[in-house]
Amino acid sequence: MNELTILKPDDWHLHFRDGDLLQETVPATARCFARAIVMPNLVPPVTNAEMALNYKKRILAASPTPAAETEPFSPLMTIYLTNTTSVEDIKSAKQAGITAAKFYPAGATTNSDAAVSQIDSLYPIFEAMAKHSLPLLIHGEVTDNDIDIFDREAIFIDRNLTKLARNFPELKIVLEHITTREAVDFINESSSNIAATITPQHLLFNRNDLLVGGIKPHNFCLPILKRDIHQQALRKAVISGSKKFFLGTDSAPHAKHRKESACGCAGCYSAWSAIELYAEIFEELSILSKLEAFASTHGADFYQLPRNTETITLIKKDWSVPEEIALPDGNPIVPFYAGQSLSWQLK
Ligand code: NCD
Ligand code: ZN
Repeated sequence: MNELTILKPDDWHLHFRDGDLLQETVPATARCFARAIVMPNLVPPVTNAEMALNYKKRILAASPTPAAETEPFSPLMTIYLTNTTSVEDIKSAKQAGITAAKFYPAGATTNSDAAVSQIDSLYPIFEAMAKHSLPLLIHGEVTDNDIDIFDREAIFIDRNLTKLARNFPELKIVLEHITTREAVDFINESSSNIAATITPQHLLFNRNDLLVGGIKPHNFCLPILKRDIHQQALRKAVISGSKKFFLGTDSAPHAKHRKESACGCAGCYSAWSAIELYAEIFEELSILSKLEAFASTHGADFYQLPRNTETITLIKKDWSVPEEIALPDGNPIVPFYAGQSLSWQLK
């Protein structure tokens, strides 16, 4: 097969950042995705509908002009749950067309200091979200100091998520960027209201790719890459073709000097090669025929949004991901998979 045409995909989890950086990140994603769910972990975080709508305007201002007779890129906005989120915030978010609300455990990842330390304290908010049909997006890791970083996702599921799902059967929940066998099992065993996104890095790599032969800061993201058995479980999840798993790149840009540092930031900037990376993996797994469902229909169906009608075409052609990209402020950034070769290219 030398050409693959699929319905235009959507990215159900990414980070655009703000300010000048939008000139870089938004066109990169609009290149091949029709829509993207935009994470709210700015500084300060996007905590209500008004902030989210203003952020949306800034994203739209940075979006490329669509080619004739094609749909413009559409950002789907989220709000960030904090200790001061109110039931009123949820109601107005829904009314304003906000797509979802994001739960970060305090201290779990980049810019999560404003987040909630006790998930139970959000139960009235989850109740309102279920009532108003606002999906809950979860960064599923505990942050207790005594819990090993490689166990944080599995323990979050065990301690928090199982109970949450049981208490709010009507609430739609997406467990974001899953990394473990435990997460795959949890999703498979739960109701159709619960789904998960999977990133390219967690399908392509395991922790050896982070740590063997020297630390590879550009493969450092959270949740951290796990051991091979977990990578294989994620691969099995996409091979299964289950509707409960869909594309979410977690593209998360950090300038080169912030990644290549004594205390390097977590996040992989994968937007410029996103759909091509997934195509590479799906071809390796001999499931290219399942790429369209994973990338373009499962997510839309879960969020009860219309499927895209435009298409994209990938052609079989070797190319290399650039070693560096210049950010609008002049700083370089190293994209995910830099310098490595991919065999599919967007036409
Ligand atoms: C994300 C970021 O940089 O904003 N980093 C990451 O490693 N994935 C935050 C997140 O999604 O955890
Ligand atoms: Zn993320």
